[in-house]
Amino acid sequence: MAAFPELRLRRLRRTEPLRALVQENRVDIGDLVYPIFVVEGQGIKQELSSMPGIFRFSPDQLPLEVEEIARLKIPAVLLFGIPQHKDEVGSSAYHPQGVIPKAIRAIKKAVPELLVITDVCLCEYTSHGHCGVVVNGDVDNDQTLPLLAQTALSHAEAGADIVAPSDMMDGRVKAIRESLDTNGFQNIPILSYAAKYASAFYGPFREAAESAPQFGDRLSYQMNPPNVREALREVEEDIKEGADIIMVKPALAYLDVIRRVRDTFNHPLAAYNVSGEYALVKAAMQMGWLDEPRVVMEILTAIKRAGADIIITYHAKDVARWLQSI
Ligand code: PBG
Repeated sequence: MAAFPELRLRRLRRTEPLRALVQENRVDIGDLVYPIFVVEGQGIKQELSSMPGIFRFSPDQLPLEVEEIARLKIPAVLLFGIPQHKDEVGSSAYHPQGVIPKAIRAIKKAVPELLVITDVCLCEYTSHGHCGVVVNGDVDNDQTLPLLAQTALSHAEAGADIVAPSDMMDGRVKAIRESLDTNGFQNIPILSYAAKYASAFYGPFREAAESAPQFGDRLSYQMNPPNVREALREVEEDIKEGADIIMVKPALAYLDVIRRVRDTFNHPLAAYNVSGEYALVKAAMQMGWLDEPRVVMEILTAIKRAGADIIITYHAKDVARWLQSI
């Protein structure tokens, strides 16, 4: 084995082509998923105050947006819906004419090849803002399952390519798989938010999606941030129930979790670079404190290096422009 002075690690860092040749991880546009907030109504394109550059669109405004996304070669979008009507049981989440089915149809008409992933959860649709049905002050797991299954089915019927449950109820993947299979959607994959933590990094999202819990918090169903072995159990459970792709969320404070999941399972792995992670970068940018492209690429590369195959990120459009110089 060579040692200094024969060994010189700087030899392979000398020029850009050399560095590129030995680069171990790369962010590829083909791995990115861009989240979109869709609000019921018409003619709405409204920027979010805590997420500069991110908008809420009414379904009629989506064709223009997704045509741009397709031009940038981003392969997939993840849809979140904000309904007009909220109630105790989140009925707008599984209404066949709900905001998400409308959005899916508008997108598929404009850009049929763009992959449409839909978030399956009740929190944007319930008056109390929790991710399931509340019984005696607690989110009832088993009563929530059929509603999630119905929500996923309504998305598949409207043309969704992948459904992504984010509620963290036990048994939701199985319930959704059964409902999809018995209705002829055997080929629709489930991307499960398998290890989703009760994180303060979701703050800007909750403003964007109007989904903040009106009482209490999500600690009784989302994971406790200090735990990592429990994340492996969550992932194992979702895989057993039939998840095709698994997710760790958030990404940055959980890079170790991404690595552990990558080393333990062979399923495709997604990581969600969440709203609060985006807001941190944008705020520093507005202060002139950081070089945005370099910081964002470093963050996304770290998520890949930790082991993620797919990255869901609000930076996707910017990254696509930087990588392709457009
Ligand atoms: C809804 C959901 C949340 C996010 C994705 N799906 C919020 C939450 O659980 O409170 C967060 C995404 C983000 O912060 O970008 N269940």
